[in-house]
Amino acid sequence: MPDRAGITISILRHLSTSDLEEIGEISEDAFIRFGHYRDFISSLAADEEGVITSGMKDNGKLVGFILTGFLPANIDNKDGIIADILAIALIPDYRYMGLGKELMEWALDLVDSIRDYKDIFYVRLTVAPDNVPAVSLFERFGFEFDISTIGSYPTGVDAVYMKKYFDSGE
Ligand SMILES: CC(C)(COP(=O)(O)OP(=O)(O)OC[C@H]1O[C@@H](n2cnc3c(N)ncnc32)[C@H](O)[C@@H]1OP(=O)(O)O)[C@@H](O)C(=O)NCCC(=O)NCCS
Repeated sequence: MPDRAGITISILRHLSTSDLEEIGEISEDAFIRFGHYRDFISSLAADEEGVITSGMKDNGKLVGFILTGFLPANIDNKDGIIADILAIALIPDYRYMGLGKELMEWALDLVDSIRDYKDIFYVRLTVAPDNVPAVSLFERFGFEFDISTIGSYPTGVDAVYMKKYFDSGE
């Protein structure tokens, strides 16, 4: 079992080719039930304009990451932003020890800091409803299924949005 004391989380800036390769490798393995995500997720992480990539490192090695995107939107004639947790994954040895929770806390703190000066309508993410560890993690943070959005991943596995709204007046 990895020692949590050596694990740190931070925003990954100016991602190098090797960072992007590590993100691609973790994605290919973690999301293989849904399709081949190596190139797609590493290209999202490379978009440093619209996507913030936070990584978890253990003694310099990337062991997990979360990608948060910010999409301009207009809802009911109001301009604002939809925050999108585009991907979250840990390498297998680092799962089920609370690190996913830390990555989510990090991303939601980031969203909160942006809400201080921009309107964010809600935070969303896409999940397979039978992905029990992921769904329980997201529910713990107040995400709820939006069943009007059911679709499928490239492999045919169901894909559904989960959304987290903010309390009005918050
Ligand atoms: C989903 C993922 C990021 C969660 O991170 P994690 O560090 O493993 O999660 P945590 O330890 O914070 O716990 C998450 C939940 O998994 C549950 N869990 C713990 N051990 C488990 C086990 N051995 N098997 C299944 N679920 C387990 C916990 O009950 C917890 O739910 P709770 O909050 O209701 O207690 C991680 O498992 C992962 O990388 N999975 C593969 C990629 C993936 O599916 N990403 C999400 C795509 S939308």
